[in-house]
Amino acid sequence: MGLPAELLVGVHEIDEQHGMLFDILEKLQGMVKGRNDWSAVYFALDELAHFTRTHFVVEEALMRVHDYPELEQHRAEHRLFSERLAQLAAQAVREDVSLSVIGFIEDWLVNHIGASDKAYVACLRTMPLRVAAA
Ligand SMILES: [Fe+2]
Ligand SMILES: [Fe+2]
Repeated sequence: MGLPAELLVGVHEIDEQHGMLFDILEKLQGMVKGRNDWSAVYFALDELAHFTRTHFVVEEALMRVHDYPELEQHRAEHRLFSERLAQLAAQAVREDVSLSVIGFIEDWLVNHIGASDKAYVACLRTMPLRVAAA
């Protein structure tokens, strides 16, 4: 899988984090296909949920310091996905994770990065840093 080249946004740190997300997803996919122990699958899903949250915090901080006008909408997308990942991780304790779950995560990442993340990066490039009032 790996991070598809068309999803590069051109900000090194953000591209690296997106790459990490796809790496973890690839590992998870391999485990689900290989019928790994449920606990290994659970921990990979949990790792993905954790790293996703960290990545979202970084993006939201970046948008905030630039006063990005679409911040709330973007944050809502992040929040919904984080909640869904937490549900999926909780579910993974009770039943096997299916390949459709992997497909859902991949689709979300591709769509979100390809549209919403690319949009904020393009916008931020045109905006000055907000300087806090003394
Ligand atoms: Fe992102
Ligand atoms: Fe995002």
